[in-house]
Amino acid sequence: METSIKITLKNQVLLGLLALSVSGCSDGDSSFAYSQRTQSLIKEAQNGSEGGPGVKQTLDTRFGNPQQLKAWMKLPVEWGGSAASVESFAASDTEARIKFVAQEGVTLPAVASSVQFVTGEGAGQSIALTAWDEKTGEAVLAGVPDKTPVSGDLCVIDGGSTLKSGRVLYMRHCSHCHGAAGDGNGPTAQYMIPKPRDYRHGVFKFTSTNDQSKVSRNDLLRVLKYGIPGTYMPSFLLMKEDELHAIVEYVRFLSMRGEYERRLVNELASDYSETAVSDRLASEKASDIVEELQSFLKDEFPATAETLGDDLAEIWTSADTEDAKILPTVARVEDSAESRQRGRELYLSKTLNCADCHGIDGAGNGPQTVAFEKNPVTNELYPEAGLHDVWDNPNQPRNLQRGIFRGGRRPIDLFCRIHAGIKGSRMPSFKNTPHEDIWHIVNYLLSLQFESDPGTIAAKSVAPSETGE
Ligand code: HEC
Ligand code: HEC
Repeated sequence: METSIKITLKNQVLLGLLALSVSGCSDGDSSFAYSQRTQSLIKEAQNGSEGGPGVKQTLDTRFGNPQQLKAWMKLPVEWGGSAASVESFAASDTEARIKFVAQEGVTLPAVASSVQFVTGEGAGQSIALTAWDEKTGEAVLAGVPDKTPVSGDLCVIDGGSTLKSGRVLYMRHCSHCHGAAGDGNGPTAQYMIPKPRDYRHGVFKFTSTNDQSKVSRNDLLRVLKYGIPGTYMPSFLLMKEDELHAIVEYVRFLSMRGEYERRLVNELASDYSETAVSDRLASEKASDIVEELQSFLKDEFPATAETLGDDLAEIWTSADTEDAKILPTVARVEDSAESRQRGRELYLSKTLNCADCHGIDGAGNGPQTVAFEKNPVTNELYPEAGLHDVWDNPNQPRNLQRGIFRGGRRPIDLFCRIHAGIKGSRMPSFKNTPHEDIWHIVNYLLSLQFESDPGTIAAKSVAPSETGE
């Protein structure tokens, strides 16, 4: 089976999208599942009309489906492939031979199965290779191209190879938990608490980036290497580095696809969800609503869809920059009885009030765990007491006495957890807390596991009125 992939070329200014053929993908579904929110729109908003595409087509044009992946050049995903140019070309009736030279800074791949022409007469053509010599750059094409390539034509060899191998590995190792579309709802997911991450929000919990930033590639790599202790998320430490790299890129691809879908739906949901339309029907005619939608899809939606892609590209790109990283301004405060004591006081203080969620002795049983909270979207109370995350899953504060930290137990991991919070969860960011104070809390947290009576320091040093209750 052939999968057409579009790829971005780093060092060249190229127009439009590139379609590259790679082979593979025999497993998996024939389409990515659409979100429930997409399906809650009226049919015309989902499927579009003659006026213009709706959510589904807009999404599919840019991301394809599991059998037919597409790469949207502007997104910061490493699609894979080597940029090269044609040095010479010679064809007989039966055979076409071609010689490539790699672009500066690029190495030719050891194995190559296809070439996509990017510029010249044959731009857009994608041809399989039947023989390949990485040392000389010589190849035999599987067919004689319609348009003859000439010296200098730009092309991509084995484009999309990283994304494609990421997909194969993901389907094998991750999809039974995280789902083929990354919706966190694979066949084994129903038996798990916490649930496997639904990537489609583009939100990841354990990051070394500040509270407003996305997850970095390194953060994802770390989660893959070490797993998430105390949950079903396993470690893939034994996987090869380039395989891990490919999976990370595929997870990013699925995350961006899901987030893009959410953003597209946001543009339409307030006026064109089933519920919105049934409300509007009290005072408006159905045909007027559909007509209005059609002109919106024709006149505004395409431009909006481009802009949303630009925004997405920007925020995901910046997550990998130095600016996004949490950098403590003071070195770790050495662990000592005084430092733990100070940490304990801060933990109980009215300003930070960790105990409100985690409890006076850190057992994860603060007052918030028994209160009923409202679903911020529907504004209705959740059926069960306690906190919930953005995926609407119950999300109770950690029992800090166990010494199991999902985002890692290095002091810097805990520093990041307090500084940025746990994204998507109710664990807030304490980025305005002085860094020295954060270190004191870290020392306190790391000591809790060994306290025989974690409540004692509190009883001695902090009056109950100061705990914020
Ligand atoms: C046995 C089920 C299972 C398998 C297999 C699995 N995961 Fe997970 N994964 C989970 C669970 C459960 C969580 C959520 C843990 C939590 O919320 O603390 C998770 C969370 C994650 C996260 C979120 C990290 C964060 O900071 O939010 C990523 C990324 C991830 N998994 C990637 C993968 C990838 C990639 C694979 C395959 C190589 C994989 N997982 C395989 C169960 C699984
Ligand atoms: C509004 C409730 C709330 C407050 C206030 C709160 N937390 Fe949390 N905290 C949570 C929740 C919920 C989780 C679990 C999130 C998850 O893993 O999905 C959590 C998790 C944690 C973890 C676990 C990190 C890991 O890697 O597993 C630590 C450590 C932590 N909180 C420390 C603190 C400290 C220190 C404070 C005060 C400075 C604090 N929390 C304040 C709700 C809260």
